[in-house]
Amino acid sequence: MSFLTLLSLLPAVLAIAVSKDAAAASCACGFVDSNNNVWRESIVSDFTSAAGALSVLANDWAIAADHEPQGGNATADIQYTTANVLEHNDALGLKASAYTGSGSVNCAEIFTKRKDILYGTFRTRSGVPSTPGVVFGFFTYINDSQESDIEFLSSDVNYYQHVHYTNQPGQTAGATQDVQIPGADFTAPGEHRIDWLPSQTRYYYNGNVAAEHTITIQVPNTPSEFILNVWSNGDPGWSRGPPTADAYATVQTVSLYFNSTSLSASQFQQNCQSAGVPVCRI
Ligand SMILES: *[C@@H]1O[C@H](CO)[C@@H](O)[C@H](O)[C@H]1NC(C)=O
Ligand SMILES: *[C@@H]1O[C@H](CO)[C@@H](O)[C@H](O)[C@H]1NC(C)=O
Ligand SMILES: *[C@@H]1O[C@H](CO)[C@@H](O)[C@H](O)[C@H]1NC(C)=O
Repeated sequence: MSFLTLLSLLPAVLAIAVSKDAAAASCACGFVDSNNNVWRESIVSDFTSAAGALSVLANDWAIAADHEPQGGNATADIQYTTANVLEHNDALGLKASAYTGSGSVNCAEIFTKRKDILYGTFRTRSGVPSTPGVVFGFFTYINDSQESDIEFLSSDVNYYQHVHYTNQPGQTAGATQDVQIPGADFTAPGEHRIDWLPSQTRYYYNGNVAAEHTITIQVPNTPSEFILNVWSNGDPGWSRGPPTADAYATVQTVSLYFNSTSLSASQFQQNCQSAGVPVCRI
């Protein structure tokens, strides 16, 4: 890139930097949600914005590229693949590729650069994959027993209105809920939400607080990252597949409002007082 090209990009780069800072300052007193919980920080990614999904992604997210050997009844390993995270339908696409019949399944995963998230409300406006044989996950994670999940299985009966809520490990009685929402069409972008609180995790579809689902055991309590992925390992008991055609989740937005171990309550209070702004409602 030439120096002049760089110079011509500068105003756009500055504008993004300024608007990010402005948003942070204007909500320096945090965010209050529909259950009156207050959260100090946010990561809001609008993958439909003119900047382009991958450019928005680069601000706060990393793309997985690891090989994950699978055990149990899986028929193939998972290969997270950078190219499977892409612009798709004017949003972010997460793709599990049509299986070639041998080797790993090429899959997609993004995770927050931050691993210091401790409690919050996490929302996405996404459409689920309609090609059978994959899992679309939206979850907090630090290890396999500190993880709260929303998962969609495209081979489920009525997969377009079927969702699994789990505090891992899911084998524990009461740690998972298998939910169907009559009339819903998850293939059209709708809002899926996890509220991670110290005593429970709560799950919502399209902000329907009356129809919330709650899990009160194995609630994670460790600073974590946040992950979205689309994967398959051929396990007939869960993902099924691997898919015979490309399977896409379409992610329009991800909005994370949270507390972290990096911004203390007292520092937050001080920032709020010096900004002198009202709390932001979400
Ligand atoms: C593998 O499949 C068998 C037969 O369905 C089942 O009994 C077993 O629990 C499965 N193993 C794992 C690790 O999922
Ligand atoms: C997960 O992390 C927690 C908290 O650090 C730790 O106590 C636990 O042993 C870890 N579990 C696994 C399976 O690594
Ligand atoms: C999150 O931070 C706010 C502001 O400091 C505090 O009032 C709230 O109790 C915290 N929530 C949790 C679950 O720690």
